[in-house]
Amino acid sequence: MAGLGGKELGARQEGAIGAMFSAIAPRYDALNRLLSLRRDVAWRRAAIASLQCRPGERLLDVATGTADMLLEAAAQCGAGVELHGVDLSGAMLERARRKLRKPGRRVPAALLAGSGVALPYRAEEFDAVCIAFGIRNVADRAGALAEMGRVLRPGGRLAVLEFASETEPVLGGLYGWYLRHVLLRLGGFISGNRDAYRYLHDSVLRFPPTPAFRRLIEAVGFAQVRVMPLTFGIANLFTARKP
Ligand SMILES: C[S@@+](CC[C@H](N)C(=O)[O-])C[C@H]1O[C@@H](n2cnc3c(N)ncnc32)[C@H](O)[C@@H]1O
Repeated sequence: MAGLGGKELGARQEGAIGAMFSAIAPRYDALNRLLSLRRDVAWRRAAIASLQCRPGERLLDVATGTADMLLEAAAQCGAGVELHGVDLSGAMLERARRKLRKPGRRVPAALLAGSGVALPYRAEEFDAVCIAFGIRNVADRAGALAEMGRVLRPGGRLAVLEFASETEPVLGGLYGWYLRHVLLRLGGFISGNRDAYRYLHDSVLRFPPTPAFRRLIEAVGFAQVRVMPLTFGIANLFTARKP
């Protein structure tokens, strides 16, 4: 990698991460439900509820994947909220499109291929922005948070949902066991892609401790930053406002 500039290195990393998610896209939803014992559904519900979207508002879901956050937003907020999603992976977006267009459901949402660190939107376009289980995959987390701030209007709301890298001591041992034996082994086995689930396991452990990530959200300029631990602190919901 010697000789590569920061931007080129970042683009290569993004390329590799996008390709990895494209490879696991066909089994991504089923594995999420299984590996989290469906807690992921409740966590996304809490994240969307925290945004309190109202008719006429515009919501952006960054790293939207297979669009579960957008589907939850459509269920909670109704047709009056304009929905947008962006993701690196073409295959994840393809599955998102299929889910959004499912007969009997037909959720109108605008999806774009793009990076969280260079969002393909104008400044102050959105009333609310969210990212679920996406920020830990982004090498330049401060850059991605700053981009979310750029596309939010003043007073706009942010919700970041992410696994915690550490939990309280009693649960910590159990959580470590779960990450090693359930997420890593079962995920690798069922998806047929052990490398991807090794990456997911490692990326959870590498994520900054909760207070440090909270400080990062504040450092990029967000106000009213709050953290809500979910399911014994396995995941955290960070909420904030653009001043
Ligand atoms: C673990 S999945 C989460 C998907 C979805 N938000 C959910 O709740 O299920 C992470 C997603 O982040 C996307 N991603 C990773 N890095 C990204 C980046 N820099 N910009 C945009 N999307 C990114 C991946 O392609 C993948 O779809």
